[in-house]
Formats: sequence, structure tokens, C-alpha cells
Amino acid sequence: MLVPKISHPHPGPKTLDAISRLKDTEMKASLSFGMSKNALIAKNAFGSKIEDVDGNLFLDFVAGYGSLNAGHCHPKIVDAVCGQATQMHQAMSMGSEVRIKMQEKLLSFFNGPKRSVILGTGGSEAAEIALKIARRETGKSEIVAFTGAFHGRTLGSLSLMGRKSQRDGIGSLIPGTRHIPYPYLYRSIFGQNENSCIEGTISLIEEFLSNPSSGWGNVAAIIIEPVQGNGGMIPTPIGFLKRLRELCDKHSIVLIFDEVMSGFCRTGRTFAYQHEVETEPDIIVLGKSISGGFPLSACVVNSDIVSSNPGTEGSTYGGNLVSCAASLAAMEVYEDESYADRAKSLGEYFLKKLVSLKDKFHIIGDIRGRGLMVGIEMVEDRKSKIPLSKAKKCSEKALEKGLLLYPGGHHLNVLAFLPPIVIEKEDIDTAVLIIEEVLTEISNES
Ligand SMILES: Cc1ncc(COP(=O)(O)O)c(C=O)c1O
Repeated sequence: MLVPKISHPHPGPKTLDAISRLKDTEMKASLSFGMSKNALIAKNAFGSKIEDVDGNLFLDFVAGYGSLNAGHCHPKIVDAVCGQATQMHQAMSMGSEVRIKMQEKLLSFFNGPKRSVILGTGGSEAAEIALKIARRETGKSEIVAFTGAFHGRTLGSLSLMGRKSQRDGIGSLIPGTRHIPYPYLYRSIFGQNENSCIEGTISLIEEFLSNPSSGWGNVAAIIIEPVQGNGGMIPTPIGFLKRLRELCDKHSIVLIFDEVMSGFCRTGRTFAYQHEVETEPDIIVLGKSISGGFPLSACVVNSDIVSSNPGTEGSTYGGNLVSCAASLAAMEVYEDESYADRAKSLGEYFLKKLVSLKDKFHIIGDIRGRGLMVGIEMVEDRKSKIPLSKAKKCSEKALEKGLLLYPGGHHLNVLAFLPPIVIEKEDIDTAVLIIEEVLTEISNES
């Protein structure tokens, strides 16, 4: 099947009708218009393809913002969901075989210390559970996050948000939340050398922690995305997480890795932090592809952390049985079908093709990625590196041509790609042709 296939220029007639009904029913603040002012109105989807209500076929390089590593409607996940749906949907305040099996499978992916799990419904909830555990465990309250960070939109997780525009207008959030520059090699204030970026960032945190005049009092936790997703697909330089671990050990700080987007083989390892050897966090926050497209998240906690009275964490639908069945099936698919290796080799193929575009477009500042978390950072010119904040415009143009990508970055100047790991090389070839067309149009306008 030829994809994309745009038979009616987007937005087609049925899409336009649905958009007006969407606008009547959904608040403007919702995410439906995140990719384009003309939302895609999906009818059905399979693998990396989405069909809209007008019969147009789109190539999906967003995959539910990383929640569909196995693609849309993977048959094994569909079977597991249908099977569980006829048995039992929900088991709050009790155990269930499918949930236990799911948790056993999840824990089998980790090395290092013994761990246990608390399930939630979404990434924001899991991030907040992690913060509460860290605060209870240490008896301290301050949290360190990074510029450009994204840990969710609920009030607590929003406090960690590294993009000010998302926090504006809400008033006070969790007091004592500190933001430190993310080790963002392309724009590091410590220079574009990996070692200076790592050591400069670590020294800065060390200075704040140890200088009594810094205003930092009692830091309970440091939370970081091993690859920043919404911030613009920025991998931490290899070696940074190890140094952060040493710093946390020195100051008795809980180290939290948020792998909501980067987890489950997306970066070429089961979890992105596993690109570094012998670096284990105290808590791992998971969501999105944990369940192949159903509401579920997890906080995986080092068992040395003993805090919490029974019954203090969780929520009504946290650990919902249908989601757990989906999760168990999804994790089996990731393992049986070698998703980590697939993401690694397809990611390398994709990056290589994108790098070949760099000489053609002076607006490409940086091309980067780890596995299938890939980004193109746009600038006005390479020397000044002034951000060209046209990512939303690019995603609108790409959508019209049948490709879903998403606009991200600290300055909304990054074209971000999170294709499902089931894509084929031909899908990448097609996507790159569309990206080239979009960049040509944007360059001509700039
Ligand atoms: C790294 C990271 N953490 C947390 C979240 C929040 O997850 P959710 O939208 O499921 O609450 C996201 C969402 O994009 C994310 O990318």
C-alpha cells in the first residue's frame, strides 16, 4: 500500500466538519491541535499508518508521542486486551494474576538492586509518586530538575517543567523546585565538548549543593530524562548519568530517571539509561509504551527505599487489568521481536539519511538522536545559532503532505520524530523526502 496517500488535500471535507464539532466540544487548551491548527481526525490505524475520516493515509512518525512503540493495533496486544476484557476489567485494592505477571515481566528488564513497582495511569502521576517517595524517604523537600524538562502537566509534575510558557498563569507550584541547564551539547554554556559539558554541569550542581549562600537547602531528589524528548530529542552525553549518580550518592539525594518517553526500546536499549554501564537510578518513572497504547504508568523503586505506609500510593485505575494485559503482551513483543536492536539499526539508518540533508539547508543547526528518538534543530544561521522557531509551521506542512512529526525543543525549533519501532526502511525513505520538501519551503520563506 502506498503511504502516505492524500486523496483529498488536508483538511478534507469530512475533516473540516469534524474539526468544527471538535471545536464545539473540546477546550482550546486540549492537545488535539498540537501538531497543526487543522487537526488530523483519525478513523483507524495499523502499524505506522493512520487513515483519516476522508480516506487519506498518513505516515505516523509520532506514535502517540512515544506511546506506540509496537505501532497501532499490534495483533498480539489486541488479542490480550480482548481476552482480558471478557474476564475482569478492574481490581482496585486487591491483587490479580495478570497484574502480578505484568510486574514480574517489568522487573525482569532491570539489573542492579532489587526493585518493586507502583502502578498509575499516566506519566505525570508516576512522576509525582516518585517525588513523594523521595521526599518521604529523605525527609527533605527540594527537587532539582533541568531546563527544557517535561515530566507532565499535573500541578506537581508541572513544577518540574523546564519550559516557562507551560507554567505561566498558574501561580505558585511546588516550592523549592530548582532548574539547572540540561547537558545540551549543541547549546551547552560549558562548550560543545562532551567532557566540558558533563563536568561543567556537574560542577554547577555541586556548587549549588555545597555553597551555603546558594539558597539551596535540602535537596531530596534530582529528576532527569536520560534523553530529553519534548525538549528536543537531546541525549545526555554518555558519562553524564554516572557523574550524576556519584553526586547524588555524595549528597544523599534520590536519583530519578524519567523514561516515560525514552523507555521500552525506543533508544536502542530497553531503557535509555542503560547506554551507560553501572549507573542505576533509585527510581525509574515509566509510562507511554509500557502498555502499547492503554492508560498505565509505573514507578519502579529501589527496594532499599522503604518509605510509605500501606495504601498511600496508587489511584482507582492505576494498574487497571486491561491495561496490564496490554502491557504484558507489549513487553513480550518488545523482547521476542528484538525491538531494541531494531530501534538501534533503524535509528542509525534514519540519522544517516538526515545528515545527508545538512549541506543542503543552512537552517539545519543540529541533527541528533539515540535510536528512534530523533530531532532536527533549526537555526537562523549556523554561526549565530539563533533558534528558528518554526517547528509548528513545519509540522503543519508535513501533515499536509501526509507525514506526522511533532514540534518540540527549548525554543520550539526542533522537528521531533518518534516513529513506531515497526516502521520499515522504505517508510524512513519516504519520510526523509517529505522532510526535505518541508525544509525547502521553510528555507525559501526564511
Ligand atoms: C518524559 C515524560 N515524562 C512524563 C510525561 C507525562 O506523561 P503523561 O502525559 O502520560 O502524563 C511525558 C509526556 O509526554 C514525558 O514525555
